[in-house]
Amino acid sequence: MKIGILGTGGVGRTLGAHLSAAGHDVMLAGRATPHEVGEGWAAEAPNRRYGTFADAAAHGEVVLNCTSGLHSVAAVRAAGVERLAGKVLVDVANPLDFSQGFPPSLAVGNTDSLGEQLQALAPEARVVKALNTVAASVMVAPAKLPGEHVLPLCGDDAEAKALVRGWLQAWFGWQHFVDLGPIHAARGQEAWLLLWTRLYGALGTGDFNIVLSRAPQG
Ligand SMILES: NC(=O)c1ccc[n+]([C@@H]2O[C@H](COP(=O)([O-])OP(=O)(O)OC[C@H]3O[C@@H](n4cnc5c(N)ncnc54)[C@H](OP(=O)(O)O)[C@@H]3O)[C@@H](O)[C@H]2O)c1
Repeated sequence: MKIGILGTGGVGRTLGAHLSAAGHDVMLAGRATPHEVGEGWAAEAPNRRYGTFADAAAHGEVVLNCTSGLHSVAAVRAAGVERLAGKVLVDVANPLDFSQGFPPSLAVGNTDSLGEQLQALAPEARVVKALNTVAASVMVAPAKLPGEHVLPLCGDDAEAKALVRGWLQAWFGWQHFVDLGPIHAARGQEAWLLLWTRLYGALGTGDFNIVLSRAPQG
């Protein structure tokens, strides 16, 4: 499968490494060419490439947004919303503002979310918010955590959400999902980072996730 990944940080490179190792044709993207990190990553395997945001948006049958959440709107605009029309755009980013140090605040929240902003920017893309609630190490290896831990996701397009569930199961082994509904549920998924970052501080590791305990259904 041709996969475009916007973002050359740890998340983009981790997801891209696993997907290319599984045989997918992966293009990682940053703002410019040349790009030392992106091109160095791409040089490690023949089915890895580096390109601009626009190149990766054109390349991917599915596109993953793994850019800094403060700049994801700019990155998707640079990718070209017309190149994303009809495609699934998996939004992995969180609008974290570290300008006042750790823990970060949310640059957008409560009455809006990054997921909604991206869907509004690219109305013909099928935005699915997913994977943003776990560390990169857990995204690609959910089986490392015991228990029936869950991955929340949301988006306006039911078929796109079904595709993403299938891909995340096939790519990384994700088993348990909670569909939170339309893309405005991204407000909740992104707000989770306010607790996630504090749990990270308390536990000293990012290798954790949510296990839902609920009463049996009668
Ligand atoms: N770290 C985790 O485990 C984790 C878990 C869940 C979600 N997330 C989210 O995943 C996203 C990626 O995180 P990360 O740590 O891998 O990378 P990051 O450092 O947050 O972002 C790196 C990417 O953002 C791009 N970028 C930076 N400033 C930009 C600007 N002004 N305009 C356009 N693009 C810009 C960079 O482009 P260049 O390549 O051109 O420099 C780079 O590709 C973030 O939104 C983060 O909140 C992270």
